Amino acid sequence: MVANGTTSSQPVFLIFGKSGWIGGLIGEMLKQQGAKFDYANARLEDRTGILADFERVKPTHVLNAAGLTGRPNVDWCEDHKLETIRVNVLGMLNLADLCFSHNIHLTTYATGCIFHYDVSFPEGSGKGFTELDTPNFTGSYYSHTKAMVENLLKEYPNVLVLRVRMPIVADLVYPRNFITKIIKYDKIVNIPNSMTVLPELLPMSIEMAKRGLTGIMNYTNPGCISHNEIMELYKQYIDPEFTWQNFNIEEQAKVIKAPRSNNLLDTKRIEGEFPEILPIKESLIKYVFEPNAKQRDQVLASVKQMRGR
Ligand SMILES: NC(=O)c1ccc[n+]([C@@H]2O[C@H](COP(=O)([O-])OP(=O)(O)OC[C@H]3O[C@@H](n4cnc5c(N)ncnc54)[C@H](OP(=O)(O)O)[C@@H]3O)[C@@H](O)[C@H]2O)c1
Repeated sequence: MVANGTTSSQPVFLIFGKSGWIGGLIGEMLKQQGAKFDYANARLEDRTGILADFERVKPTHVLNAAGLTGRPNVDWCEDHKLETIRVNVLGMLNLADLCFSHNIHLTTYATGCIFHYDVSFPEGSGKGFTELDTPNFTGSYYSHTKAMVENLLKEYPNVLVLRVRMPIVADLVYPRNFITKIIKYDKIVNIPNSMTVLPELLPMSIEMAKRGLTGIMNYTNPGCISHNEIMELYKQYIDPEFTWQNFNIEEQAKVIKAPRSNNLLDTKRIEGEFPEILPIKESLIKYVFEPNAKQRDQVLASVKQMRGR
């Protein structure tokens, strides 16, 4: 194998995060592609266990979708700081370090929730945070640890850090789907954000790994979309009767423990690699709303049951 994951033969993927949302989706996708892959058994903090996984699978590429995200949400991390450090910082670095010493390319599904609109990057200005900008959002402990570890990971020449944001899938009752969340909430804020449409972008991440890309990548569709614009699409494609209520950030702060980040990420790097990538609204229509509109009655019934109204 040549450095940074470029292989002359078929790549072999080792996935961390078997029981997780994104880890599960990656495995299904690689299976459909007929790729060679296996899941890791080790915990991220366990160097011996990781080495045993390397020995068993002999990966050319590691895909890491393991990490602590908190249940029911990132507020959990506020009260579990040591666990969060152990997994998201120590564990993450452990994996990157072992991949480096074994000449294995590592792609890690990280987060773009480490930025927040401010005077230099005002909401609505169209100016997005680039891969070179220093994270300015540490309002939640989760984001704080993720920003810290990103700053260290970028020194590893074998690592690609993907900044995922508000991930979206077609299943409108899947609880982790950003659209499901905002359909379910009693009240939502209305702020434009960069988002990641997983059915479009996950295959690109495999291609990035095969290309041996490294460094930081803003891993979102180009542009941003607000909560209300998504709800308008839901109304247009699925439920014309749908209504929702907005509240502002100050009111939202009363029902969550830690502040949440809202931002626009610059997508020139990913667009350079994949010129075909769709702007966020077009991607949502193609990968989420059009497929759901084809089975509108079932979708509507499932969503109504989920909302209990
Ligand atoms: N979902 C989102 O909204 C979102 C947004 C932006 C970024 N991301 C990032 O994307 C990544 C994957 O997210 P996800 O939503 O798929 O997470 P998830 O559903 O919560 O899954 C997390 C996975 O990590 C594993 N894990 C936790 N601690 C571990 C440890 N110490 N060692 C090994 N495995 C461990 C879990 O396994 P066990 O069940 O066995 O503990 C599970 O398989 C995360 O790093 C997250 O920060 C997610």
